Amino acid sequence: MSSPARWKCAPLRGIRPMLDIDQSALGADVALIGVEKRFDGNTVLSRLDLTIRAGEFLSIVGKSGCGKSTLLRLLSGLDQPSSGDIRVDGLTPEDGREDIRLMFQEPRLLPWARVIDNVMVGLPEGGPVAERHARAEAALREVQLADKAAEWPANLSGGQRQRVALARALVSRPRLLAFDEPLGALDALTRLVMQDLILQVKREEAFTAVLVTHDVTEAVALSDRVIVLDAGRVAREVVIDIPHPRPRGDARLAALEAEILGAIFAEGGPVRSAAGGTQLSG
Ligand SMILES: Nc1ncnc2c1ncn2[C@@H]1O[C@H](COP(=O)(O)OP(=O)(O)OP(=O)(O)O)[C@@H](O)[C@H]1O
Ligand SMILES: [Mg+2]
Repeated sequence: MSSPARWKCAPLRGIRPMLDIDQSALGADVALIGVEKRFDGNTVLSRLDLTIRAGEFLSIVGKSGCGKSTLLRLLSGLDQPSSGDIRVDGLTPEDGREDIRLMFQEPRLLPWARVIDNVMVGLPEGGPVAERHARAEAALREVQLADKAAEWPANLSGGQRQRVALARALVSRPRLLAFDEPLGALDALTRLVMQDLILQVKREEAFTAVLVTHDVTEAVALSDRVIVLDAGRVAREVVIDIPHPRPRGDARLAALEAEILGAIFAEGGPVRSAAGGTQLSG
């Protein structure tokens, strides 16, 4: 288990100090206002309005091709909206890039670099090597992989590689961490372990989390709120107001999961349900 004291070291240029965290700073505030994304006349996101509060854990679900990855790419500044506005702590994602990290289904590690060097890739350039090393070691402890620092990626399991990718994302202490199906390639048991690890680092670090997943059980287990994307809009928003730890198999979670699945597979526009989810205009 990590604690803020483990991160104790002097600040590197470009990132905030790891000590003296302002407890009111829980992560980035995110706002999308009238966001549209078109590819060659194909409208993928359509006048999308969404706010994500600092420190929130938001999951995005929806059918394949509904625009989930597109939305994460816009949020992380890898692509720009065709129209509309995106603000992360008041900045455009491009301008606030230092504070945003994106994690994918594949760990995307450098095969020729040892684990510790892969984690250091997540730090801004510059600063004393010893300090960069200390930060990467702290991030590896955070994901419980300190003993693999000198290992090559090829010698790790799939779950361990994803933990290295998580450490690389965490090492710069981002204010917004976006996950695009990060556990999609893992076996069911490793997935559960990784879900717990993500919740643990979320408790210990100050970031806003946005998770895209096809696994509605996962979305309900981890998030404060789940949104269903459909036809480029937010078709349903469901608040998961159940404290952690959330017992797996809990009847309330199962009911919310059923509601979300119903919204994903409903025909046509926004869905109406007696289960209590917030209804959004279509
Ligand atoms: N660079 C691009 N050029 C053209 N079309 C694109 C581009 N990126 C995405 N699209 C299209 O946008 C739509 C949404 O794609 P996106 O990858 O966001 O879907 P998704 O919801 O993440 O799907 P999945 O669940 O399968 O990952 C798709 O129709 C896709 O073909
Ligand atoms: Mg996708």
